[in-house]
Amino acid sequence: MRILVVGGGGREHALAWALSRSGRHRLMSAPGNPGIASVARLFPVAATDVEGLVDLALEKSIDLVVVGPEAPLVAGLADALRSSGVSCFGPGRDAARLEGSKWFAKEIMDSAGVPTAEGKVFTDTASAMDYIGKDPADFVIKADGLAAGKGVFLPEDIQEARSILAGFFGGDFGNSGLRVVVERRLSGREVSILAVCSGMDCVILPPSRDHKRLGTGDTGPNTGGMGAVCPPPELKDDFAGLARERIVLPVLNELHSRGLDYRGVLYAGLMVTDEGPKVLEFNVRFGDPETQAVMPMLGSDLAELCIAAAEGERLPARCLGRDGACTCVVMASGGYPAAYGKGYPISGLDDVEDVLVFHAGTAENGERLVTAGGRVLGVVGCADDLGSSVEKVYGQVGKIDFEGCYYRTDIGG
Ligand code: AMP
Ligand code: GLY
Repeated sequence: MRILVVGGGGREHALAWALSRSGRHRLMSAPGNPGIASVARLFPVAATDVEGLVDLALEKSIDLVVVGPEAPLVAGLADALRSSGVSCFGPGRDAARLEGSKWFAKEIMDSAGVPTAEGKVFTDTASAMDYIGKDPADFVIKADGLAAGKGVFLPEDIQEARSILAGFFGGDFGNSGLRVVVERRLSGREVSILAVCSGMDCVILPPSRDHKRLGTGDTGPNTGGMGAVCPPPELKDDFAGLARERIVLPVLNELHSRGLDYRGVLYAGLMVTDEGPKVLEFNVRFGDPETQAVMPMLGSDLAELCIAAAEGERLPARCLGRDGACTCVVMASGGYPAAYGKGYPISGLDDVEDVLVFHAGTAENGERLVTAGGRVLGVVGCADDLGSSVEKVYGQVGKIDFEGCYYRTDIGG
């Protein structure tokens, strides 16, 4: 088959790597990155250029498009491909609202009886403050729309809650923050679930956990993710089955009853509370950097799962996993998630042994590989258990270097 991977980050490198493993498919990527170029032919079409991607898929007789980022899905890439007769692994625009609107996601969960934090939607500060009452530390305030992972706040006092709401309604987050969801704060440990969905059926990939905060010890600002492990060591074997029955299948049923056929990956960010797992958020795409840690743990062939899902076929009830664990450490540019420099030469990639290196923000400058983004590389170590995978990856990351290079030293801890 001819498979086109849309996107150019670490997640897409891991996806292209996994799709290429069987050796049975011809891979292409748009726009891709220098790492993806080792397994796929690249085409310089932006991930947000819906028309350009449809043209490319038709011109290259693509059998399946696998979409990495959410923006093209929310913009209707999957619908445009399907109406041109191209099979797509990614939900249509209407179902992509699960990520594009937190309130839509809540409504679906409420109708489907899926456990989540109780909440309400607001369009003005006074009503939201009324709901929050005297204890803002019991609540979370979220932009309804897409905010590049920056639209979630955990206020500590009334003054802070008020100023967060004023920022949202004052337009700090554009249209995304003009509607705000306020929900109860949950406590527990977070787990990420990636479910491959084919309409009414789904298969859960091995669970994972990302480390969102910038600093060692879970300090500092939230980022896109500084590392990930697969699987989280404390989870029981039946966790994936529980997530399938209680969360993903009810959501797919509810979407179906509204005429929405969800073919793609559904990412559920869960909080494992004393009362069981509850949904914090849905994404309509693979997680980044979770995917970098999950792909090497797959025992099933990703391409086969994606092809079946895109065609709406039945999926195996269980995904085959591998024994052991994987740890991904993200190497980032100094300054990320705020401003950072680009174009610094990357050294040491030929010196690392027995780890996978997924490119996230890299570019070629002549013969040299240079930095080109906030998250630059994802280095992944796999071993018989989590502790050994952590040891393995940290034994190698120090060999890679670029100016301002930063990584957390406690991923997997
Ligand atoms: P979200 O984008 O909705 O996943 O939120 C980003 C992060 O905010 C999550 O990974 C959690 O760490 C935190 N968060 C979101 N909702 C809640 C909640 N209801 N209770 C506690 N923490 C939350
Ligand atoms: N790592 C979090 C996300 O992909 O949304």
